[in-house]
Amino acid sequence: MHATLCDLITDLVQNSFEANAAEVTLNVEETEKNLKVVIADNGKGMSAETLEKAKDPFYSDGLKHKHRKVGLGLPFLFQTSEMTGGTATIESEEGVGTTVTFNLDPANVDLPMFGNFSTAAATLMTYGFQGNLTIEHSKDGKSYSVSREELIEVLGDLNDLESLTLLKQFIEGNEEEING
Ligand SMILES: Nc1ncnc2c1ncn2[C@@H]1O[C@H](COP(=O)(O)OP(=O)(O)OP(=O)(O)O)[C@@H](O)[C@H]1O
Ligand SMILES: [Mg+2]
Repeated sequence: MHATLCDLITDLVQNSFEANAAEVTLNVEETEKNLKVVIADNGKGMSAETLEKAKDPFYSDGLKHKHRKVGLGLPFLFQTSEMTGGTATIESEEGVGTTVTFNLDPANVDLPMFGNFSTAAATLMTYGFQGNLTIEHSKDGKSYSVSREELIEVLGDLNDLESLTLLKQFIEGNEEEING
């Protein structure tokens, strides 16, 4: 299960990776009144039928978990938004891609904790995904953006121990700037 919103975001971005997307973008926009998250990919997309099923907690495509046909990412999102008076939408077209958008009220007492965004971002950047991932994070008007392609250009292999340390420092530095 998801302990934090960052775990949920990680799970949803991993869905985009698993959909064989070439480009994935994660946009997180925080203000005092609203948390907006948009995850967009140009992966395989979903038919209307699959999309309906994907919202059901007792559905997973049966390919990934051989012994479990239950997916937790999207159902958890819908459950959380319903419980807290937020909104969540998925737009998807087969062969074109998928966009998941949600807005949540940061002040709602039933909202899970936000979690550690630096850790989530570093995990996603070093996930065994061959396409490009761009992460944009803004907080009360301050923002930064980082892409996997740029990081590879500067650091080389991101799974190399030294690169991993530098990558984490870079993201943490950006986070400190927008949180400060
Ligand atoms: N971005 C996406 N592009 C294409 N299909 C998607 C996308 N996100 C979800 N799906 C479809 O919806 C199903 C359910 O997704 P969900 O994240 O709930 O479960 P899962 O990925 O199968 O398993 P889990 O996330 O629990 O490991 C997926 O199996 C996949 O078929
Ligand atoms: Mg998933």
